[in-house]
Amino acid sequence: MEVLTNKLKILNHPLISHNLAIIRNENTSCEQFRNALRRITYFLIYEASKNLPTKEITLKTPLEETSCFVFDDDIQLILAPILRAGMVFCEVAQELLPFANVHHLGMYRDEETLEPVWYYDKRKKIKNVEKSKVIILDPMLATGNSAKCAVDNFIFKGIKEENIVFMSLIATPEGVKKLSDKYKNVEIITASLDRTLNSKGYILPGLGDAGDRIYNTLD
Ligand code: URA
Repeated sequence: MEVLTNKLKILNHPLISHNLAIIRNENTSCEQFRNALRRITYFLIYEASKNLPTKEITLKTPLEETSCFVFDDDIQLILAPILRAGMVFCEVAQELLPFANVHHLGMYRDEETLEPVWYYDKRKKIKNVEKSKVIILDPMLATGNSAKCAVDNFIFKGIKEENIVFMSLIATPEGVKKLSDKYKNVEIITASLDRTLNSKGYILPGLGDAGDRIYNTLD
């Protein structure tokens, strides 16, 4: 396969492929879907947080003094779930990174143009942009339109490209290309790079509509 960008990391592990099969199966219930998604999210967050700055501290175990590395509390970590499908990612991310700020991004996809339409942006300004790291959370990197729009939003607020990670469950070559053509330094993490998109902007083979499957609104 052509290398799309060296900033793309696809997690390849039996624990991920097994849970992804549960997620993709059309017969999987909403509860099973959410549980499998949560399980994969731990590994995605592990990867997405691997370059967060740490600092050395000294502490005492019951036996002796030792030094340890902990997250640097000088850094502001922003978790940015794209509503609504990004919320399961966010719940797990908050469990692992409880000191993070959550910056909800509300956008829906116009069915005709496949372009994102904003309806909510939690923080108009971000303080301390030099010391901020952002992890954007959206299970589906499909056309790349909302991904690019979410990154645009943080760049506009002063965050540097290299301090932004885009975390997805499934990505497409089209979506990765759109995002990385504009933002070469944004790291993209995913559990799968699927084949392509259909004419309605759905990922093939994909999993269907992530929001509907997470929130049981498939009717
Ligand atoms: N959003 C989804 O929920 N599913 C897709 O396949 C593409 C975008």
